[in-house]
Amino acid sequence: MTTPGPIPDGIAPFCDACAEGLSGVADDRARIERVRDDFCRLLGETELFARLLAEIAEGTGPVDLRRPTAFDNELLLYAHPRRLFSLRLYLYEPARFTPVHDHNSWGLLGPVGGVLEVVGYRREDDGSRPELARVAPAGRRTLRPAETASTLPLDEGIHRVGNPTDRTVASLSLYGQSLARGYIQEFDPETGRVYRILRPHEKKRMLAAQALAALGAGGAPGTGGTRP
Ligand SMILES: [Fe+2]
Repeated sequence: MTTPGPIPDGIAPFCDACAEGLSGVADDRARIERVRDDFCRLLGETELFARLLAEIAEGTGPVDLRRPTAFDNELLLYAHPRRLFSLRLYLYEPARFTPVHDHNSWGLLGPVGGVLEVVGYRREDDGSRPELARVAPAGRRTLRPAETASTLPLDEGIHRVGNPTDRTVASLSLYGQSLARGYIQEFDPETGRVYRILRPHEKKRMLAAQALAALGAGGAPGTGGTRP
């Protein structure tokens, strides 16, 4: 991951404070608490985000709208040059939610002026079958302006995030240094299936490899692992 060109106006002081605050902190929960206040203050910078959203809507400004991301409502605002953290904006239409998913890092998230819903999930199986998982809801929070939620890597941070209102909302996320896994996982609570969430070009390559393997196996149904 590299820095996507110039940093959006007003973001740099937060990123500098974040880099300084995180140095030498070895525990994920401590990292979250170290930067939470600064993150809350950034969320309150309404004028900064109004300007940023106007630039994004107009297709101007420093944010690269064409940069491939795992979610199609995701925009990378900043990535630390040594990958210590990244700052991302997510845009949720009314009643739009992510799938249930995990993470490769600690994270903080909060709405930019609107309302956001976060539903935590608990993993209840033993993880012995990579393509299957049993997850159950474990707490729902409604985040209002200046309120934040946090997440943790892998099974400790499974959640679903979205917009329970009838207005499109922007959400800001700060993620820490990623594990080297290369994908995050989507969980279907109904079927128990696990899918890999990747950037679009990576997903196409993975699906092609799986389809190729299935061809080699005589076209028999494969083990899945992703969905169309
Ligand atoms: Fe998430």
